[in-house]
Amino acid sequence: DLVLHITGARPNFPKAAPVIRALAALGVSQKLVHTGQHYDERMSEVFFRQLGLPEPDVNLEVGSGTHAKQTAAIMTGLEDLFEAERPGMLVVYGDVNSTVAAALVAAKMQIPLAHVEAGLRSFDPSMPEEVNRLVTDRLSDLLFATSPDAVAHLGNEGVAPEKIHFVGNPMIDTLLANIDRFDQDKARTELGLADRYVVATLHRPGNVDDPADAAALVKAMHAVADQAEVVLPLHPRGRGRLQAAGLFDHPALRVIDPLGYVEFLGLVRGAAAVVTDSGGVQEETTMLGVPCLTLRPNTERPVTITHGTNQLVTRERLPQIVEAVLTAGRAESWPTPPLWDGRAGERIAQVIAARLR
Ligand code: UD1
Ligand code: UDP
Repeated sequence: DLVLHITGARPNFPKAAPVIRALAALGVSQKLVHTGQHYDERMSEVFFRQLGLPEPDVNLEVGSGTHAKQTAAIMTGLEDLFEAERPGMLVVYGDVNSTVAAALVAAKMQIPLAHVEAGLRSFDPSMPEEVNRLVTDRLSDLLFATSPDAVAHLGNEGVAPEKIHFVGNPMIDTLLANIDRFDQDKARTELGLADRYVVATLHRPGNVDDPADAAALVKAMHAVADQAEVVLPLHPRGRGRLQAAGLFDHPALRVIDPLGYVEFLGLVRGAAAVVTDSGGVQEETTMLGVPCLTLRPNTERPVTITHGTNQLVTRERLPQIVEAVLTAGRAESWPTPPLWDGRAGERIAQVIAARLR
């Protein structure tokens, strides 16, 4: 039976890599689909190169669009593909439009569906990702959870316990497998940064889509740059709006293009603090012990607060919290979330392989 993996956006790639590797080790036949949701070299191809992912067998090249147009284009492309390939199992990752589009097509064609990173909930319906998570989980046959809270959410929503598998976090498998490549000295010197610097990433619609939000965000980031050098590998979403709001106009705030995975985590590893609205970066900083200030009103990853280095901050309070974090320095030790041990891909592969038999 053929296993088809559906990927398309940047955060999918580090999650899929360990699952694909572990299934290959079990001799399972598989193909990798790229929807083309992300297409810039720095948002896509660099991850395939750096993470040893196989070349996609198919690229649907859907590109950007409104939610409906992008989701529909992915669904149309996948329907034809599933008709031709007749997969025995579909594996989807995370909470992007490629994930929910594939889940809808799989459900209608009665193809068994596995969701990696199931059960995360921000309980914030204004986030497109929350809609994608709810729909995908409702349609999934195998739900792979990264944290105990996710297992509890699925239970509360009435998902049968035998469908839920608490396996740990495949994104953290990728981090641990590559950690020796994260060269903080190289990352720092290549950018000519001072010893003490802050890394930032920003791309959530709630932060960058509205001009008033963008202006408030720029003000907060400039107040951070007054305290320490900031390097911001900027996601293409919102780039124009943040530039128009003056983001690039502070001498200590360096806006650069998105970085490759290895370069980015090298930079994060040596940072005094990270300011972000990313999902994955909250998890990666938790493992690396780097203080993480998440510019959001909520998180679907509370385990990074209870077992990690993360805290939620508002734009208004960001400058003073950065000051406190820079003064306090890094924690000597901190708990890490259960099962974030580098073996999640193997656990997922075992469950999938057993189901195929
Ligand atoms: C998507 C995910 C989001 C995830 C993020 C990770 C959805 C609904 N959102 O958001 O959950 O956190 O990816 O990075 O799936 N663009 C480019 N080049 C690219 C890709 C995008 O320039 O390679 C620009 C286009 O102008 C596009 C915009 O970015 O319209 C947004 O891209 P899209 O994939 O729709 O959503 P993201 O904001 O990237
Ligand atoms: N990332 C990267 N280069 C960057 C910014 C992020 O390699 O310039 C990686 C990051 O380490 C993580 C993934 O991209 O593994 C997260 O993607 P993103 O923040 O775009 O998505 P989210 O997790 O918010 O959905």
